[in-house]
Amino acid sequence: MRTKSLIFSLMACLLFVSTHVAGQMIKTPVPVRPAGQTDVLKLKTDPIPTVRVAFIGLGMRGPGAVYRMAQIDGVEIVALCDVRKEQVEKVNKTLTEKYGKAQAKEFYGDTEVWRKVTALPNVDLIYVATDWQSHALIGVQAMKDGKHVAIEVPSAMSMQEIWDLINTSEQTRKHCMQLENCVYDFFELTSLNMAQQGVFGEVLHGEGAYIHGLQQFWGSYWENWRMDFNRKHRGDVYPTHGLLPVTLAMNIHRGDKMNYLVSVDTKAVGNPAYIKEKTGEEVTDFRNGDHTMTMIRTEKGKSILIQHDVTSPRPYSREFQLSGTKGFANKYPVQGFALNADNVDSEGVPNHEDLNAHRFVSDETRKALMEKYKHPIAKGIEEKAKKVGGHGGMDFIMDYRMIYCLQNGLPLDMDVYDLAESCCLIPLTEISLDNGSAPVEIPDFTRGAWDKIDKVHFEQ
Ligand SMILES: NC(=O)c1ccc[n+]([C@@H]2O[C@H](COP(=O)([O-])OP(=O)(O)OC[C@H]3O[C@@H](n4cnc5c(N)ncnc54)[C@H](O)[C@@H]3O)[C@@H](O)[C@H]2O)c1
Repeated sequence: MRTKSLIFSLMACLLFVSTHVAGQMIKTPVPVRPAGQTDVLKLKTDPIPTVRVAFIGLGMRGPGAVYRMAQIDGVEIVALCDVRKEQVEKVNKTLTEKYGKAQAKEFYGDTEVWRKVTALPNVDLIYVATDWQSHALIGVQAMKDGKHVAIEVPSAMSMQEIWDLINTSEQTRKHCMQLENCVYDFFELTSLNMAQQGVFGEVLHGEGAYIHGLQQFWGSYWENWRMDFNRKHRGDVYPTHGLLPVTLAMNIHRGDKMNYLVSVDTKAVGNPAYIKEKTGEEVTDFRNGDHTMTMIRTEKGKSILIQHDVTSPRPYSREFQLSGTKGFANKYPVQGFALNADNVDSEGVPNHEDLNAHRFVSDETRKALMEKYKHPIAKGIEEKAKKVGGHGGMDFIMDYRMIYCLQNGLPLDMDVYDLAESCCLIPLTEISLDNGSAPVEIPDFTRGAWDKIDKVHFEQ
């Protein structure tokens, strides 16, 4: 009996190696799109003049979203849900007392209670800010229950979850947007606009990161979910903030696609030391290295570098760099642009003598460029966004844009493929690292439609 199962395991191993390692590139299965199902690029749905929203997950992140939404016209907050009763009651109290809104229906008590929320008849949008492991499960069910869904970052943690979200969005024709707020920060929006207007020439290289020591937060996550995930998983487990502002500027699945990645990490030191200090436990099984670097190559010959580090004593950084044939944008630690002098038209840009491709343009020129290329979507709402706040205003712009598009029946700025492309780094970097930094194929999540549209359009 034991010999039989040994032979079976060996055969399974061989089968895995032969189907997954082809020409050095490790591939993951791409499910065939079911007949009759089509992509959701530029998906439009019927306008919803008053968007009825239900929130699931009210820990550190969720309540801020409720309060931002309370300040957007044409939004009704219908339901609030969290495992913990006190979180729900606290948010409902603030909603009524501070924002003068009607009481929302309350759901709490266990980790399955959210099913009653996605099943509610009077809801248009489910807004999910629970821990990472429950995101995709809730997202899939929400769409099956006839709702649009917006899910915090990262929205999916495995290839299976990613494909489930894609297939469900394609089948149900419901929006599935990842709440990637960093795309809406002012510098990133301006840089995207500059890239789309050709100011940087052809953008050949981009960088992004999540470098943020989380020591002050580790103790506050519900049931320690975040440290537990880092302990069990090697790789870039939080890639979306760094990646999406770059992939949008590089037209990924809008004329280009990411083909493969290669990942390298350090050993794990900081987080095991943190656990030892807090609990006395000698940790020997911590998988996530202190620093992870991932390099990506695209179909059109571009490169991307993404980094993750949540333990080293470094200043907060999302890096954000776009490097083109005629110009360069950089956000951290110093915001700046470098340009070929002949690439800036004279109107509104003073100090031409200061333009020099080998250093940043002057502060004055940078400010003038920021004004000149301010993204159209930021123009009307910048002031309110800064007042409402949420990471300096970008969170408000994200929520505002999503509601605006739903109200007007426009495609959302980001689709389920943006979600997939950014979240796939989580499982794929783990595969690369566990195989000696082998290249791993990044699937075309549009399944053949990556060249159908030309760039991201934030429709107005
Ligand atoms: N975009 C950003 O800038 C940003 C910033 C912070 C956090 N986040 C993301 O927001 C999400 C939440 O993070 P957080 O810091 O608020 O974590 P948290 O642990 O403080 O909150 C999670 C909440 O979800 C609740 N919850 C867990 N499982 C649930 C279930 N099945 N049903 C109902 N409620 C459930 C918990 O009770 C808790 O209140 C994460 O995905 C995180 O990555 C994003």
